[in-house]
Amino acid sequence: EKITVSVIKADIGSVAGHSTVPDEIKALAEKKLNEAKEKGIIIDFRVFNAGDDLELVMTHRKGVDSEEIHGLAWETFKACAEKAKELKLYAAGQDLLKEAFSGNVRGLGPGVAEMEFTERPAEPIIVFMMDKTEPGAFNLPIFRMFADPFNTAGLVIDPSMHQGFRFEVWDIKEHKRVMLSTPEEMYDLLALIGSKGRYVIKRVYPKEGGKLPADEPVAVVSTEKLFEIAGEYVGKDDPVAIVRAQSGLPAVGEVLEAFAFPHLVSGWMRGSHNGPLMPVPFRYSKCTRFDGPPRVIAAGFQLCNGKLIGPVDMFDDPAFDYTRQKAMEICDYIRRHGPFEPHRLPHEEMEYTTLPKVLKKLEARFEKI
Ligand code: 13P
Ligand code: 13P
Ligand code: MG
Ligand code: MG
Ligand code: MG
Repeated sequence: EKITVSVIKADIGSVAGHSTVPDEIKALAEKKLNEAKEKGIIIDFRVFNAGDDLELVMTHRKGVDSEEIHGLAWETFKACAEKAKELKLYAAGQDLLKEAFSGNVRGLGPGVAEMEFTERPAEPIIVFMMDKTEPGAFNLPIFRMFADPFNTAGLVIDPSMHQGFRFEVWDIKEHKRVMLSTPEEMYDLLALIGSKGRYVIKRVYPKEGGKLPADEPVAVVSTEKLFEIAGEYVGKDDPVAIVRAQSGLPAVGEVLEAFAFPHLVSGWMRGSHNGPLMPVPFRYSKCTRFDGPPRVIAAGFQLCNGKLIGPVDMFDDPAFDYTRQKAMEICDYIRRHGPFEPHRLPHEEMEYTTLPKVLKKLEARFEKI
């Protein structure tokens, strides 16, 4: 029987401003999920915060898009949002954009990454959780893990990975998707995913004839775009991803190596700026400088019949100090641009922010030249 890992997340309110989730909210989420575990709805769970986002990691046997699991997440977020309102937390209920639950949380505000697969004799998984950025922030590291031989030695030296992988890429504006295989279509893949605000890696699959079933994903990313639901800026999407590792897949260290370069992502202050993605330990999962910089935490587990052994706080290591140092140098450099591009996002991407309201006032003062 297959196992499903579901990571469902939402910003339901935070302290101070958009920094972090207070302990009493996480404790309430844990209480709710523990009740569900006792009833046998889920096998196991862990609650995290990525900056100001509340993250529910759940294992179960109900498959993806399960009404029961999504309903549980929705009810948990609702209860936490109530508590957040009581505590007058900042932006209480921020990502709960619709009133009524209708079968699953997609389109209601929360972000979802989930996959169903056959649990291997040893099944290492890493759950990545980001704050102050968008789903396309995963394009570069996921590409690196599964397609770049300079990141992943196994692509070259391990016969069980040598054939490469298949990438499911979504056009999140036109709501279309395409499957591309690497290494043979690597340049086509890069032609799309370099436009990380438009084309996002949704899933990665093994190829046919390999060690793993070709129809079971090995990585999945949440791709919900909040502005499409709300029609205006309501914070960033702050994506999550689940990556399986080892035995025909990148080693855990190859998966993590993809985050050793603090690449520029969009988000940060008011969701309107480019900045470096900084990998941090759980204890630094709070956003401070200029509401950032954008950051990512990594929770490592072994699955044991659905039970979560872990988490291991994977970025809690001096091995990532240099990346963090580099990220802060980039912060200092790019921040000095103030309101200028390319620190501030390009004009077209400011469409859903509050900038158009400012520009509207000036419209009448323009004269023809
Ligand atoms: P160990 O000998 O520490 O198990 O390392 C195995 C390995 O392949 C690391 O990439
Ligand atoms: P969040 O999406 O993390 O709430 O960020 C909102 C924001 O505008 C930060 O400056
Ligand atoms: Mg927020
Ligand atoms: Mg957030
Ligand atoms: Mg957000």
